[in-house]
Amino acid sequence: MNIQKCLSKNTSSLSGKVVAISGSTGGLGQALCEHLATLGASLLLLDRNEEKARRLIARLTASHPALKADFMRLDLADIECVRSVTDILCEQTPDYIIFNAGIYHVPRFQCALGYNNIFQVNFLSPYYMARRLKSHVQARGGRIVAVGSIAHNYSKIDAGDVDFSTRRQSSKVYGNSKRYLMFSLYGLFDGEAGLSVVHPGITFTNITSHYPKLIFAIIKHPMKVIFMSPKKASLCLLYGLFSDCGKNQWIGPALFDIWGRPKKKMLRTCKASEAEQICAIADDIYNKT
Ligand SMILES: NC(=O)c1ccc[n+]([C@@H]2O[C@H](COP(=O)([O-])OP(=O)(O)OC[C@H]3O[C@@H](n4cnc5c(N)ncnc54)[C@H](OP(=O)(O)O)[C@@H]3O)[C@@H](O)[C@H]2O)c1
Repeated sequence: MNIQKCLSKNTSSLSGKVVAISGSTGGLGQALCEHLATLGASLLLLDRNEEKARRLIARLTASHPALKADFMRLDLADIECVRSVTDILCEQTPDYIIFNAGIYHVPRFQCALGYNNIFQVNFLSPYYMARRLKSHVQARGGRIVAVGSIAHNYSKIDAGDVDFSTRRQSSKVYGNSKRYLMFSLYGLFDGEAGLSVVHPGITFTNITSHYPKLIFAIIKHPMKVIFMSPKKASLCLLYGLFSDCGKNQWIGPALFDIWGRPKKKMLRTCKASEAEQICAIADDIYNKT
Protein backbone atom coordinates (compact mmCIF):
# COMPACT_ATOMS: atom_id res chain seq x y z
CA MET A 1 0.00 0.00 0.00
CA ASN A 2 1.36 3.39 -1.03
CA ILE A 3 0.85 5.91 1.80
CA GLN A 4 0.87 9.00 -0.44
CA LYS A 5 -1.67 7.46 -2.82
CA CYS A 6 -3.87 6.44 0.10
CA LEU A 7 -3.66 9.94 1.61
CA SER A 8 -4.58 11.68 -1.63
CA LYS A 9 -7.44 9.26 -2.33
CA ASN A 10 -9.07 9.25 1.14
CA THR A 11 -8.25 12.62 2.70
CA SER A 12 -8.18 16.37 2.03
CA SER A 13 -6.61 19.42 3.68
CA LEU A 14 -7.40 19.95 7.37
CA SER A 15 -6.07 23.49 7.34
CA GLY A 16 -8.11 25.63 9.77
CA LYS A 17 -9.46 22.55 11.60
CA VAL A 18 -8.64 21.62 15.17
CA VAL A 19 -8.20 17.93 15.93
CA ALA A 20 -8.11 16.76 19.56
CA ILE A 21 -6.59 13.34 20.06
CA SER A 22 -6.14 11.15 23.12
CA GLY A 23 -3.27 8.67 23.27
CA SER A 24 -1.14 10.76 20.93
CA THR A 25 2.00 9.62 22.74
CA GLY A 26 1.36 5.96 21.80
CA GLY A 27 2.44 4.03 18.71
CA LEU A 28 -0.64 4.73 16.62
CA GLY A 29 -1.17 8.19 18.10
CA GLN A 30 2.26 9.44 17.06
CA ALA A 31 1.86 8.08 13.53
CA LEU A 32 -1.61 9.61 13.29
CA CYS A 33 -0.33 13.01 14.48
CA GLU A 34 2.28 12.92 11.69
CA HIS A 35 -0.47 12.42 9.10
CA LEU A 36 -2.63 15.13 10.71
CA ALA A 37 0.26 17.60 10.70
CA THR A 38 0.95 16.78 7.04
CA LEU A 39 -2.69 17.61 6.25
CA GLY A 40 -2.35 21.00 8.01
CA ALA A 41 -4.55 20.36 11.08
CA SER A 42 -4.03 22.16 14.37
CA LEU A 43 -3.56 19.62 17.14
CA LEU A 44 -4.73 19.41 20.72
CA LEU A 45 -2.97 16.52 22.42
CA LEU A 46 -5.00 15.02 25.27
CA ASP A 47 -2.50 12.95 27.22
CA ARG A 48 -1.63 12.00 30.77
CA ASN A 49 2.13 12.44 30.30
CA GLU A 50 2.99 16.07 29.58
CA GLU A 51 6.69 15.44 28.99
CA LYS A 52 6.03 12.83 26.29
CA ALA A 53 3.39 15.02 24.66
CA ARG A 54 5.68 18.08 24.62
CA ARG A 55 8.46 15.94 23.09
CA LEU A 56 6.06 14.86 20.36
CA ILE A 57 5.03 18.47 19.69
CA ALA A 58 8.71 19.46 19.39
CA ARG A 59 9.35 16.61 16.93
CA LEU A 60 6.28 17.42 14.84
CA THR A 61 7.08 21.13 14.78
CA ALA A 62 10.61 20.38 13.59
CA SER A 63 9.22 18.70 10.46
CA HIS A 64 6.10 20.94 10.14
CA PRO A 65 7.21 24.45 11.22
CA ALA A 66 3.74 25.98 10.64
CA LEU A 67 2.05 23.44 12.93
CA LYS A 68 -0.11 24.77 15.76
CA ALA A 69 -0.16 22.24 18.58
CA ASP A 70 -1.27 22.40 22.18
CA PHE A 71 -1.47 20.05 25.13
CA MET A 72 -4.14 19.44 27.77
CA ARG A 73 -3.59 16.89 30.53
CA LEU A 74 -6.15 14.08 30.39
CA ASP A 75 -5.95 10.98 32.56
CA LEU A 76 -8.79 8.77 31.41
CA ALA A 77 -8.56 6.65 34.57
CA ASP A 78 -9.38 9.73 36.68
CA ILE A 79 -13.03 10.75 36.29
CA GLU A 80 -12.47 14.16 37.97
CA CYS A 81 -9.85 14.97 35.34
CA VAL A 82 -12.15 13.65 32.59
CA ARG A 83 -15.00 15.87 33.83
CA SER A 84 -12.93 19.04 33.93
CA VAL A 85 -11.35 18.45 30.49
CA THR A 86 -14.84 17.82 29.09
CA ASP A 87 -16.08 21.10 30.64
CA ILE A 88 -13.31 22.95 28.80
CA LEU A 89 -13.96 21.13 25.51
CA CYS A 90 -17.67 22.01 25.74
CA GLU A 91 -16.59 25.67 25.74
CA GLN A 92 -13.78 25.36 23.19
CA THR A 93 -14.91 22.50 21.02
CA PRO A 94 -12.46 21.12 18.46
CA ASP A 95 -13.73 20.12 15.01
CA TYR A 96 -12.70 16.50 15.51
CA ILE A 97 -12.06 14.42 18.63
CA ILE A 98 -10.25 11.12 18.24
CA PHE A 99 -10.65 8.74 21.18
CA ASN A 100 -7.51 6.77 20.51
CA ALA A 101 -6.03 6.08 23.98
CA GLY A 102 -6.37 2.50 25.11
CA ILE A 103 -4.93 -0.10 27.50
CA TYR A 104 -4.74 -3.88 27.24
CA HIS A 105 -2.50 -5.94 29.49
CA VAL A 106 -1.78 -3.60 32.42
CA PRO A 107 -2.06 -4.07 36.19
CA ARG A 108 -5.72 -3.74 37.04
CA PHE A 109 -7.13 -1.43 39.72
CA GLN A 110 -10.54 -0.12 40.63
CA CYS A 111 -11.30 3.46 39.59
CA ALA A 112 -13.46 5.94 41.52
CA LEU A 113 -16.72 4.86 39.83
CA GLY A 114 -16.12 1.24 40.89
CA TYR A 115 -15.08 -0.20 37.53
CA ASN A 116 -11.62 -1.45 36.62
CA ASN A 117 -9.17 0.86 34.84
CA ILE A 118 -9.40 -1.02 31.52
CA PHE A 119 -13.17 -0.49 31.37
CA GLN A 120 -12.77 3.10 32.59
CA VAL A 121 -10.04 4.12 30.12
CA ASN A 122 -11.25 2.20 27.05
CA PHE A 123 -14.97 2.72 27.42
CA LEU A 124 -16.40 4.71 30.30
CA SER A 125 -14.37 7.94 30.00
CA PRO A 126 -14.54 8.26 26.19
CA TYR A 127 -18.27 7.41 26.27
CA TYR A 128 -18.89 10.07 28.94
CA MET A 129 -16.93 12.65 26.91
CA ALA A 130 -18.59 11.70 23.61
CA ARG A 131 -22.03 11.95 25.17
CA ARG A 132 -21.40 15.43 26.52
CA LEU A 133 -19.55 16.65 23.43
CA LYS A 134 -21.74 15.11 20.71
CA SER A 135 -23.98 18.11 20.03
CA HIS A 136 -21.04 20.55 20.22
CA VAL A 137 -19.06 18.61 17.64
CA GLN A 138 -22.12 18.13 15.42
CA ALA A 139 -22.78 21.91 15.56
CA ARG A 140 -19.28 22.43 14.10
CA GLY A 141 -19.94 19.88 11.35
CA GLY A 142 -17.14 17.80 12.86
CA ARG A 143 -16.84 14.23 13.97
CA ILE A 144 -16.08 12.01 16.93
CA VAL A 145 -13.74 9.19 15.97
CA ALA A 146 -13.60 6.17 18.29
CA VAL A 147 -10.86 3.57 17.98
CA GLY A 148 -12.32 0.09 18.29
CA SER A 149 -10.69 -3.29 17.93
CA ILE A 150 -11.19 -6.72 16.38
CA ALA A 151 -11.01 -7.93 20.01
CA HIS A 152 -14.52 -6.55 20.60
CA ASN A 153 -15.66 -9.84 19.15
CA TYR A 154 -13.85 -12.08 21.68
CA SER A 155 -16.97 -12.52 23.81
CA LYS A 156 -20.43 -11.23 24.55
CA ILE A 157 -21.11 -8.91 27.47
CA ASP A 158 -22.15 -10.14 30.90
CA ALA A 159 -24.64 -7.92 32.76
CA GLY A 160 -23.63 -9.64 36.02
CA ASP A 161 -19.97 -8.68 35.57
CA VAL A 162 -20.13 -5.50 33.51
CA ASP A 163 -16.39 -4.68 33.48
CA PHE A 164 -15.28 -8.36 33.38
CA SER A 165 -13.48 -7.87 36.71
CA THR A 166 -13.75 -11.59 37.48
CA ARG A 167 -12.20 -12.57 34.12
CA ARG A 168 -8.50 -13.38 34.11
CA GLN A 169 -7.78 -13.14 30.38
CA SER A 170 -6.68 -9.61 29.43
CA SER A 171 -7.89 -10.14 25.87
CA LYS A 172 -11.45 -10.69 27.14
CA VAL A 173 -11.39 -7.73 29.56
CA TYR A 174 -10.02 -5.50 26.81
CA GLY A 175 -12.41 -6.89 24.19
CA ASN A 176 -15.39 -6.35 26.48
CA SER A 177 -14.45 -2.68 27.02
CA LYS A 178 -14.11 -2.11 23.27
CA ARG A 179 -17.45 -3.86 22.68
CA TYR A 180 -19.06 -1.41 25.11
CA LEU A 181 -17.33 1.56 23.49
CA MET A 182 -18.33 0.68 19.95
CA PHE A 183 -21.93 -0.38 20.47
CA SER A 184 -22.78 2.31 23.04
CA LEU A 185 -21.64 4.94 20.52
CA TYR A 186 -23.68 3.41 17.70
CA GLY A 187 -26.66 3.66 20.06
CA LEU A 188 -25.81 7.22 21.13
CA PHE A 189 -25.63 8.51 17.54
CA ASP A 190 -28.34 6.20 16.25
CA GLY A 191 -27.38 6.80 12.61
CA GLU A 192 -26.95 10.59 13.02
CA ALA A 193 -23.98 12.34 11.43
CA GLY A 194 -20.78 12.92 13.40
CA LEU A 195 -19.52 9.47 14.40
CA SER A 196 -16.84 7.26 12.97
CA VAL A 197 -15.76 3.95 14.49
CA VAL A 198 -12.37 2.85 13.21
CA HIS A 199 -9.76 0.18 13.88
CA PRO A 200 -6.16 -0.38 12.84
CA GLY A 201 -6.21 -4.18 12.48
CA ILE A 202 -3.11 -5.35 14.34
CA THR A 203 0.09 -3.34 14.50
CA PHE A 204 3.23 -3.43 16.58
CA THR A 205 3.06 -0.85 19.42
CA ASN A 206 3.39 -0.87 23.23
CA ILE A 207 -0.07 -2.37 23.45
CA THR A 208 1.06 -5.45 21.52
CA SER A 209 4.36 -5.85 23.37
CA HIS A 210 3.03 -7.32 26.59
CA TYR A 211 3.96 -10.97 26.01
CA PRO A 212 6.52 -12.77 28.22
CA LYS A 213 10.06 -11.73 27.22
CA LEU A 214 11.02 -14.94 25.39
CA ILE A 215 7.78 -15.18 23.40
CA PHE A 216 8.03 -11.49 22.60
CA ALA A 217 11.61 -11.86 21.33
CA ILE A 218 10.41 -14.66 19.01
CA ILE A 219 7.28 -12.96 17.67
CA LYS A 220 8.58 -9.39 17.46
CA HIS A 221 10.22 -9.62 14.03
CA PRO A 222 7.59 -11.77 12.28
CA MET A 223 4.97 -9.36 13.67
CA LYS A 224 6.71 -6.43 12.03
CA VAL A 225 6.72 -8.29 8.72
CA ILE A 226 3.21 -9.79 8.84
CA PHE A 227 1.29 -6.78 10.12
CA MET A 228 1.17 -3.21 8.87
CA SER A 229 3.41 -0.57 10.45
CA PRO A 230 1.71 2.04 12.71
CA LYS A 231 2.27 4.56 9.92
CA LYS A 232 0.14 2.48 7.55
CA ALA A 233 -2.33 1.15 10.13
CA SER A 234 -3.07 4.69 11.36
CA LEU A 235 -4.41 5.58 7.89
CA CYS A 236 -7.57 3.66 8.85
CA LEU A 237 -7.96 5.89 11.92
CA LEU A 238 -7.28 8.99 9.83
CA TYR A 239 -9.91 8.00 7.28
CA GLY A 240 -12.49 8.20 10.09
CA LEU A 241 -12.14 11.99 10.08
CA PHE A 242 -13.44 12.10 6.53
CA SER A 243 -16.33 9.66 6.64
CA ASP A 244 -19.28 9.02 8.94
CA CYS A 245 -20.08 5.51 10.05
CA GLY A 246 -23.73 4.55 10.19
CA LYS A 247 -25.03 2.09 12.75
CA ASN A 248 -22.77 -0.98 12.96
CA GLN A 249 -20.33 0.26 10.34
CA TRP A 250 -16.62 0.56 10.95
CA ILE A 251 -13.51 1.46 9.03
CA GLY A 252 -10.44 -0.77 9.06
CA PRO A 253 -7.94 -2.54 6.80
CA ALA A 254 -9.65 -4.01 3.72
CA LEU A 255 -8.05 -7.48 3.75
CA PHE A 256 -9.21 -9.79 6.55
CA ASP A 257 -9.39 -6.70 8.81
CA ILE A 258 -5.58 -6.69 9.18
CA TRP A 259 -4.00 -5.53 5.96
CA GLY A 260 -4.48 -2.95 3.25
CA ARG A 261 -6.18 0.33 2.54
CA PRO A 262 -9.01 1.67 4.76
CA LYS A 263 -12.41 0.23 3.96
CA LYS A 264 -15.83 0.77 5.52
CA LYS A 265 -17.59 -2.49 6.39
CA MET A 266 -20.76 -3.67 8.12
CA LEU A 267 -20.33 -5.32 11.52
CA ARG A 268 -22.45 -8.34 12.27
CA THR A 269 -20.85 -9.20 15.58
CA CYS A 270 -23.50 -8.06 18.06
CA LYS A 271 -27.19 -8.88 18.01
CA ALA A 272 -29.69 -6.01 18.38
CA SER A 273 -30.78 -7.32 21.80
CA GLU A 274 -27.20 -7.28 23.14
CA ALA A 275 -26.54 -3.83 21.65
CA GLU A 276 -29.68 -2.55 23.40
CA GLN A 277 -28.46 -4.03 26.67
CA ILE A 278 -25.07 -2.31 26.22
CA CYS A 279 -26.80 1.04 25.61
CA ALA A 280 -29.02 0.61 28.68
CA ILE A 281 -26.01 -0.20 30.90
CA ALA A 282 -24.01 2.70 29.40
CA ASP A 283 -26.94 5.03 30.02
CA ASP A 284 -27.25 3.88 33.61
CA ILE A 285 -23.53 4.37 34.27
CA TYR A 286 -23.58 7.80 32.58
CA ASN A 287 -26.45 8.97 34.78
CA LYS A 288 -24.41 8.04 37.87
CA THR A 289 -21.22 9.69 36.56
N1 LIG B 1 -1.84 -1.83 18.21
C1 LIG B 1 -2.82 -2.62 17.83
O1 LIG B 1 -2.60 -3.70 17.24
C2 LIG B 1 -4.26 -2.24 18.09
C3 LIG B 1 -5.26 -3.08 17.61
C4 LIG B 1 -6.58 -2.73 17.80
C5 LIG B 1 -6.89 -1.55 18.46
N2 LIG B 1 -5.89 -0.75 18.93
C6 LIG B 1 -6.28 0.48 19.65
O2 LIG B 1 -5.55 1.57 19.13
C7 LIG B 1 -5.44 2.58 20.14
C8 LIG B 1 -4.00 3.06 20.24
O3 LIG B 1 -3.21 1.97 20.70
P1 LIG B 1 -1.65 1.80 20.41
O4 LIG B 1 -1.50 0.54 19.67
O5 LIG B 1 -1.09 3.04 19.85
O6 LIG B 1 -1.13 1.57 21.90
P2 LIG B 1 -0.01 2.29 22.75
O7 LIG B 1 1.20 2.53 21.96
O8 LIG B 1 0.11 1.47 24.00
O9 LIG B 1 -0.66 3.71 23.11
C9 LIG B 1 -1.69 3.84 24.06
C10 LIG B 1 -1.92 5.29 24.35
O10 LIG B 1 -2.97 5.40 25.34
C11 LIG B 1 -2.51 6.27 26.37
N3 LIG B 1 -3.12 5.99 27.67
C12 LIG B 1 -3.05 4.84 28.38
N4 LIG B 1 -3.68 5.00 29.57
C13 LIG B 1 -4.16 6.28 29.58
C14 LIG B 1 -4.87 7.04 30.53
N5 LIG B 1 -5.20 6.54 31.73
N6 LIG B 1 -5.19 8.31 30.23
C15 LIG B 1 -4.84 8.86 29.05
N7 LIG B 1 -4.14 8.19 28.09
C16 LIG B 1 -3.80 6.91 28.38
C17 LIG B 1 -1.00 6.03 26.43
O11 LIG B 1 -0.39 7.08 27.14
P3 LIG B 1 1.09 6.93 27.76
O12 LIG B 1 2.05 7.23 26.65
O13 LIG B 1 1.10 7.97 28.84
O14 LIG B 1 1.21 5.53 28.27
C18 LIG B 1 -0.68 6.00 24.94
O15 LIG B 1 -0.60 7.30 24.43
C19 LIG B 1 -5.97 1.95 21.42
O16 LIG B 1 -7.29 2.37 21.65
C20 LIG B 1 -5.94 0.47 21.12
O17 LIG B 1 -6.90 -0.24 21.87
C21 LIG B 1 -4.58 -1.06 18.77
